[in-house]
Amino acid sequence: MELLRKVSEAPGISGFEYGIAEIIKKELEGHTDKIEEDAFGNLYVHKGKGPKTIMITAHTDEIGLIVKHIDEKGFIRFAKVGGVPDHVLLGQRVQVHGKNKKLSGTIGCKAIHVMKEDERKQLVTYDKMFVDTGATKDQLTKYGVRVGTPITIERGVTELENGLIVGRAMDDRAGCYMLIEALKNANPVNRIVGVFTVQEEVGLRGATVSSFSVRPDVGIAIDTTIAGDHPEIGESEAPIKLGSGPTLVVADGRRDSLGGGLIANPLVIQWLTDLAEKSNIKCQFEVLEGGTTDATAIQLSREGVPSGCIAIPARYVHSFSEVVSKNDIESGVRLLVSIMENPVPF
Ligand code: CO
Ligand code: ZN
Repeated sequence: MELLRKVSEAPGISGFEYGIAEIIKKELEGHTDKIEEDAFGNLYVHKGKGPKTIMITAHTDEIGLIVKHIDEKGFIRFAKVGGVPDHVLLGQRVQVHGKNKKLSGTIGCKAIHVMKEDERKQLVTYDKMFVDTGATKDQLTKYGVRVGTPITIERGVTELENGLIVGRAMDDRAGCYMLIEALKNANPVNRIVGVFTVQEEVGLRGATVSSFSVRPDVGIAIDTTIAGDHPEIGESEAPIKLGSGPTLVVADGRRDSLGGGLIANPLVIQWLTDLAEKSNIKCQFEVLEGGTTDATAIQLSREGVPSGCIAIPARYVHSFSEVVSKNDIESGVRLLVSIMENPVPF
């Protein structure tokens, strides 16, 4: 739980994942054969020898904001990095990561009292919001806050009832946690390359370059997925449930066509299904419309790589308060360990 809290709370929007990478390196030091980084910021953790190279990814980046403009009074306008919904932004506390000082701030907009009748009924879009740090423009300059400075949402991890927890960036720090734990504990029978990838939320960029250099025989992405077991989502729309185990993603992609996504290699799905059965791990099969993961980039590397994705169900994904189940996460770790400790049957 402490490690999950640490990786969840570490700031790191796409392109600025340094802090989280440091934590992972420290955590895995001495537990694996070799840890290296590439020029893009991806972290490669090598463990074990064997006939096959298995690449397992978890992305280190989180969605967030970036400074676009600072006005004369020091109010900051921002751009969104990754799929940030406007309706979760208002009133959030933020951290502005100035080069010389980390500043606290809050996201504000016009108060409801001064909104006209029709304005009140509308969603306030992000371009009508701004970050208030209390600092003047000159102070921001002194603190090293300028155009391009990353802004993260500030939220701690809190335990809920029945083994559930809520926290920021569970997408995909839950996956990072699982990969760290599995790499620490497994005795691999193949060459395992755990890759902590950067810039997933802006288009699977880290996985694209890292799968080229790893040359895997099999690729597995670990990520989060949409749990629909709460009000306002029909069961047939999103049948995945919290606490029913990690999902094996059979297909995902765009909402209209599953284009731009992954159709998991049937041999990979069969292998994962058999491993889960053998180790008594409850899993859910999933077809996800409206999103994809690093596995999509891995499968298209070089001459093609048999790939699959294991996802942890999460409620309210991309809301900065994502609810996940500790049981699902621990089952996911066990499944990863058995992937590492068993031969690949194809
Ligand atoms: Co995401
Ligand atoms: Zn993700």
